[in-house]
Amino acid sequence: MRTQVGIIGAGPAGLLLSHILHLQGIESVVLERHSRDDVEAIIKAGVLEQGTIDLMNEIGAGERMMKEGFRHEGIVLRFDGRDERIDFPSLTGGKSVMIYAQHDVIKDLIKARLDSGGDIRFESKDVSVYDLDSTEPKIRYRDKEGVVHEITCDFIAGCDGTQGICRPSIPAGVLKVYERLYPFGWFGILCKAPTSSDELIYSMHERGFALVSTRSPDIQRMYFQCSPTEKIDDWPDERIWEEFRARLATKDGWAPKEGQIFSKTVIGMRSLVVEPMRYGRLFLAGDAAHVVPPTGAKGLNLAASDAQILARALAAHYQSKRSDLLDQYSDTALRRVWKATRFSWWMTSMLHTFPGADEFQHRLQLAELNYVTGSRAGSTTLAENYVGLPIE
Ligand code: PHB
Repeated sequence: MRTQVGIIGAGPAGLLLSHILHLQGIESVVLERHSRDDVEAIIKAGVLEQGTIDLMNEIGAGERMMKEGFRHEGIVLRFDGRDERIDFPSLTGGKSVMIYAQHDVIKDLIKARLDSGGDIRFESKDVSVYDLDSTEPKIRYRDKEGVVHEITCDFIAGCDGTQGICRPSIPAGVLKVYERLYPFGWFGILCKAPTSSDELIYSMHERGFALVSTRSPDIQRMYFQCSPTEKIDDWPDERIWEEFRARLATKDGWAPKEGQIFSKTVIGMRSLVVEPMRYGRLFLAGDAAHVVPPTGAKGLNLAASDAQILARALAAHYQSKRSDLLDQYSDTALRRVWKATRFSWWMTSMLHTFPGADEFQHRLQLAELNYVTGSRAGSTTLAENYVGLPIE
């Protein structure tokens, strides 16, 4: 069979791309390795930038997000036992963020695609791509029943994440890989408890970073900095709460609301960018091309901006036979990717305790937090990056 755009991966990048293309009259087929249930259950971050909120609404997939998501107009930076708030709207011309879990974004996008006749093929196995540098790139895969299919495309979008097949299908020597590993991870929990704070709390503490986030009025998401090889079994619930209480203590005696912990995970932290985000007629988008540490929750938002930039370039190709936007896709996307990479690295460096760091380092981090929260210029830097920079 033939399609215009073959999309590998039904994560945020692939689904957004497929739906934006559909609204422009461009057809696509989405291939996904996992089942629909599995894709809808992957737990990731839950902060949508203003631009991602606007995109979801523009493409008609934002209704539930607007009803069930929580608009947050600021965050709290906690250090030295005190709280300083960064107010987004007053520093960014009215922008804010939405707390809405990634798996809910995925559910809404899958529904939007299927309701408008979209073609998503779940449980597609052994996916491979070839003839990438020809005008007829192809995808081969095996369906649920074991039957092998081939799809001839005009273009292929590699939206299949860090572990996907698209990036390794590009010949050796073409991509340059930029990578930074951080010497710590995040221990994440989900618990049944009421909200501890109206806004997210990013806490810098000598014992290590901690983050108070939320999923709903009854379910809370919290993280603390741990070793990258931390063992979940070493952390019974009581030890976890003790650690949160210590790292989140303020001079006013603040303590998190505790409740039954029903999920514990250890997340590795790294930054990765590959350049260029294109080889022939294969375009990489989202985690297939870049990974950020979770501090600042940029992963999903970068997938959304990649999808937007790529959709615009493909639309220019089909509607006006223009190839310039496709030729610029990688540079345009990478400008924004690198800014978000810098922001995530900066937030991570400012808020975490590095192994072997001394008192001097700790004082510098405190001074930076004092500057960022005490200066309008410093606060604006954080706020405008947090709510999301424009596509340029
Ligand atoms: C989350 O809620 O999972 C979350 C929130 C903010 C972050 C990272 C993760 O910076």
